Amino acid sequence: MIRPKPLVAGNWKMNGLRASLNEIIKLNDFLVRSAPKCDVLICPPVTLISSIVQLNLEHVFIGSQDCHTNTNGAHTGDISAEMLRDIGCSHIIIGHSERRVGHGEDNKIVNKKATQAQTVGTTAIICVGETIHEYEAKKTLEVIVSQINSSIPSHATAENTIIAYEPIWAIGSGKVPTVGSVKEVHAVIRKVLVERFGNDGDKINILYGGSVNASNAHTLMSVVNVNGALVGGASLKADDFFNIISVYDQFD
Ligand code: 13P
Repeated sequence: MIRPKPLVAGNWKMNGLRASLNEIIKLNDFLVRSAPKCDVLICPPVTLISSIVQLNLEHVFIGSQDCHTNTNGAHTGDISAEMLRDIGCSHIIIGHSERRVGHGEDNKIVNKKATQAQTVGTTAIICVGETIHEYEAKKTLEVIVSQINSSIPSHATAENTIIAYEPIWAIGSGKVPTVGSVKEVHAVIRKVLVERFGNDGDKINILYGGSVNASNAHTLMSVVNVNGALVGGASLKADDFFNIISVYDQFD
């Protein structure tokens, strides 16, 4: 397959009411006028997905922030990948650190959820990242390699899988790793992906996430093997998010 376009994805987390649909409409209007050089994805809370899909936006993919490990059954309050696909999701974020830490999701659970996402035909955005303690103990690479190896299902392809490297200490903190550190971690992720998946491993998009904003996006997106961004806070307002997306206009 051909190399997918870079992806700039917005993770709205538990933010957004129906009034926020205006931000998506505004974002799409920006994108209609600018024809971005990357794909654009919004992962709103599940409550907004159907309303956004009904807007029939030409330039924005819609995804979810999580799914269950099973296809259906007695799981009160949970939502399956198949249901998300059914309402129009193209991508599902899996194993975000706020789920790994806040909901006790280990690599095995992440692997099962990713398998569900891939099986129903969505792209799993599998998140990895080290804690501040692991970072300070210089265990980042060890942790990331272990998460990559255990979290990614064996049938991953460049079509059904995206990796997001999000150092936990960089999320919502305004702190970002050095360019050298991002380059090193993404190179190691690429190496493991190529070892496991060959040619496809070379094409799987690897996103960086953690305090990405309009000021640092160009620097971060210029790093080798950084194929886009997973953006939290700065994805909530169309203007801020569009300024990050526009960084790709400056690349060849
Ligand atoms: P922030 O961009 O708010 O740091 O969040 C990053 C993130 O967790 C995206 O999934």
